[in-house]
Amino acid sequence: MKIAIFGDIHGNIEALRASFKAISGSVEAIFHLGDLGGYAPFVNEVADFLAEHGIRGVQGNYDDAVADDREHCGCRSEDPVQERMAALSFEWTKRRVTPKTKAYMASLPKEIALEALGRKISIFHAAPHKNNLYWFEDRPEKFFREMAGQSDADILVYGHTHKPYRKDLDGRIFINAGSVGKPKDGDPRACVALIEIEPDAIRVEFRRVEYDVEAVAAAIVEQGLPEYYSERLRRGA
Ligand SMILES: [Fe+2]
Repeated sequence: MKIAIFGDIHGNIEALRASFKAISGSVEAIFHLGDLGGYAPFVNEVADFLAEHGIRGVQGNYDDAVADDREHCGCRSEDPVQERMAALSFEWTKRRVTPKTKAYMASLPKEIALEALGRKISIFHAAPHKNNLYWFEDRPEKFFREMAGQSDADILVYGHTHKPYRKDLDGRIFINAGSVGKPKDGDPRACVALIEIEPDAIRVEFRRVEYDVEAVAAAIVEQGLPEYYSERLRRGA
C-alpha cells in the first residue's frame, strides 16, 4: 500500500494543486495533516479542494483555533516580530474564512487510524494527544519513547514543525511529513511524504514539488497579509 501525506498547507493553493498533480494516480490514498489556513491567503480554496477531491485529514491547531474563534492560533513564535506577524495572519484568516470552511475545520478528527499489512498507522497533526507540540528530529530518544507510549501505532505520521524527517526506534517508525504550503527546511518547494508499506519494508520518500512560489508571494501582499510571509515563502523559512 502506498499513501501520500500533505502536511501543513497553510492557505497555499498553488502548492496544493501542484502536489496533487505530481502524485495523483501513484498512490492509493492521500491524507492531509490540517493547518489549512494562515500565512497565505487561499484558506477557503484549500478547504474546498480537499473536500472536492475526497482527501481526508486531521485537525491542526490552526483549524481548531479558527473554527473556535480563539484569540491565539496556538503557534509558538521565536521572537516578538514573528509573534506580531502571526497575530496579523491569524486575525486576517479569521476574518476571511467562510462559514463553510469553518464548519469543515470543526468537523476534522484529531486522529485517523489505519491498518496495512498488519501494521497500525496513526495520523495526527503534532503529537498523539496535543495538537501544538513541536516535535523536531533532535528531540532525545526518551521523548520519542514517551510519544510512542501514548499510541498503539507502529507508524506515527504527523507534521506541525514544517521540517520533514523519518526516525526508526524500537521497531516504531516516526514520520514528520514536512509542509506542502510553508516549508521551513530551507527548500521552498512543496514537500509531500510518500509512505509505502510492504511486507518486508516501509519506504518513505519526501517528494519535493516545484510550484509557482512567486504567484503566491504576490498574492500574500495583494491580499493584505504581511510581506514578511512572501519573503519567508521564497526562502523556505
Ligand atoms: Fe500546526
